[in-house]
Amino acid sequence: VEHLLGIKYLNPNDLELIFETASHFKEVINRPIKKVPSLRDITIANLFFENSTRTKLSFELAEKRLSADVINFSAGQSSVKKGETLIDTVNNILSMKVDIVVMRHSNVGAGVFLSKHVDAKIVNAGDGTHEHPTQALLDSFSMREALNTNSLKGKKIVIVGDVLHSRVALSNIFALQLQGAEVKVCGPTTLIPRYISSLGVGVETNLKKALEWCDVANVLRVQHERMAIKYFPSTREYTQLFGINKEILDNLGKKIVIMHPGPINRGVELTSDVADSDQSIILNQVENGVAVRMAVIYLLAQQIKR
Ligand code: CP
Repeated sequence: VEHLLGIKYLNPNDLELIFETASHFKEVINRPIKKVPSLRDITIANLFFENSTRTKLSFELAEKRLSADVINFSAGQSSVKKGETLIDTVNNILSMKVDIVVMRHSNVGAGVFLSKHVDAKIVNAGDGTHEHPTQALLDSFSMREALNTNSLKGKKIVIVGDVLHSRVALSNIFALQLQGAEVKVCGPTTLIPRYISSLGVGVETNLKKALEWCDVANVLRVQHERMAIKYFPSTREYTQLFGINKEILDNLGKKIVIMHPGPINRGVELTSDVADSDQSIILNQVENGVAVRMAVIYLLAQQIKR
């Protein structure tokens, strides 16, 4: 593939190549010298039109570990605030001889749009409620590690919470299905999109049943900022029905893996004793994000004529 715009554009072989490359880079970044010289001749712009902590820092670190030159752009402190368009902004940055653009934007399809208008490799770092492909890649990589397997075929994964507003959910569904995993979503019906069944994903509205069924629960953040109208349930009701606490986990009779892409609403989706427990791999996900993003950038850069 020419760009990384979404998991829906990838095939199972693409995923395996990314995971294999990420495993190699995970070894590299655990050595005393954490850098490789591979991308000394490549320049990368990280364009963030929406807030980020993990994705932004992780891409920057991944690029620096590959020895690329890196420039960072946050829309809030830029001439976007003076009315400059996306295309003008990006073309101005590209005229500084940039090879790869990593972009987060609140508009669905912003990465696809950009890929049709500018001459650079595009990596989607999250487009609105649509896709967050590198999050799904690092999630699958982390699941394999936690379950000590090279394949998620037949593994049962439940995605819990605000699926409606989640780009992490859609990218995870595509990635997990490409690997032959079984996927269910669990949450209030108001936060489950109607199209979900057409993707071959099961819906479970009872949290206890969903957790009893799964090997891994990938728990989503309730995205208050994307809710245009007041959804049922309220935060208090949400926590009562779908919040995961230690008591629920201890009563399952088996040990499941708990994941969350961050940032966590502590006490809403997860209690702190769950988020910080030995069942949680939340910080492993963040660690793996650097290796997975190194793999994505490295593989795309191999296609650039140098
Ligand atoms: N998981 C994730 O995308 O986090 P950030 O919004 O902090 O980048």
